[in-house]
Amino acid sequence: MKILSVVGARPQFVKLAAVAAAAAETPGVDHLILHTGQHYDPTMSDVFFADLRIPEPDINLGVGSGTHGAQTAAMITGIERVLFELKPDWTVVYGDTNSTLAATIAAVKLERPVAHVEAGLRSFNRRMPEEHNRVMTDHASDMLLAPTEGAMMHLRREGLAGRALLVGDVMADVCLRVSESVRGTPPPRELERLHGSPYVVATLHRAENTDDSGRLRLLLERLSACLVPVVLFAHPRLVARAEAFEIPLQIGALVPVDPVPYPVLIRAVLGSAGVVTDSGGLQKEAFLLQRPCTTVRSETEWPETLTAGWNVLDPDLAHPEVSVVREAPNSDQGKPYGDGRAAQRILRALTQ
Ligand code: UD1
Repeated sequence: MKILSVVGARPQFVKLAAVAAAAAETPGVDHLILHTGQHYDPTMSDVFFADLRIPEPDINLGVGSGTHGAQTAAMITGIERVLFELKPDWTVVYGDTNSTLAATIAAVKLERPVAHVEAGLRSFNRRMPEEHNRVMTDHASDMLLAPTEGAMMHLRREGLAGRALLVGDVMADVCLRVSESVRGTPPPRELERLHGSPYVVATLHRAENTDDSGRLRLLLERLSACLVPVVLFAHPRLVARAEAFEIPLQIGALVPVDPVPYPVLIRAVLGSAGVVTDSGGLQKEAFLLQRPCTTVRSETEWPETLTAGWNVLDPDLAHPEVSVVREAPNSDQGKPYGDGRAAQRILRALTQ
């Protein structure tokens, strides 16, 4: 059986790591990887393949950055060409980026089966490009591989239960495996300048937070007022917008650093007093690693993280002094993201 995984952006490489490893262990599966080139900086792409031991992509379309229309159109054109040639039994798409939607459109129009990993997530915020990507991908795909009960519920409500399967969360598979391998190792070199002081890990990259100068300035000012250093792993989008708006990243408590490989980020979170982020993946990683998280958004696709206050939504960072540095809740989290074997279930579903 020939399975083609299509990825393009950083969080998709993490999800792919779990599926590629499970595919390699499944007899009779020929797993090919197409990278759209949506993310192309070595720190946003190559290091993930190397550190997570993902095989090199078989094809890289090198599409790069652009407006939503231009970027998605270039991907559809390139992916269609590859599908004509490879004729995979399954095209597997991940998450909610423009690469996800492009591959889905290209494949279903050629009547080639599509499976969506991380199906059924909803923010119900129609101003997010990712919300449109995930809704359209779910409705077009042939197999919907849901990470949580909540995602299954959304798919049922939208009349998609017949194509949906609860498999667990592939990001949890990878997070749990990597956290075991880095636990107890020395702190990352990026944190040496903190000389052992307690710190918070922060990321900001969503268009809704970075693309308006007033909003970006407000969020950075509020973060800079925290009582402990805030290590800001700065996505290229944040750096580009801050530069364009002439907003300094190195103010007050803020300690800006370049994006880091996945195991380094996990190690940084493990050693932190908490996390502040607008990333879906990092909210969940904070939860899995039992660190309190403050999410700079008014909604989340991962509501299970809100249990007992492990994650708190604070879209304007109105109270950074109380919300950002707080005690970890003393409660059992359960296992809402599965048992670390979601990828094996995905391979079973695809091959059966
Ligand atoms: C994309 C996804 C988002 C995901 C995020 C993870 C969409 C609509 N958004 O957002 O869901 O959470 O990836 O990181 O698909 N850039 C670089 N180097 C790179 C990549 C991007 O400099 O390797 C800069 C460019 O200025 C680019 C900007 O970042 O214009 C935004 O990149 P883009 O891929 O459009 O979206 P992300 O913000 O990364």
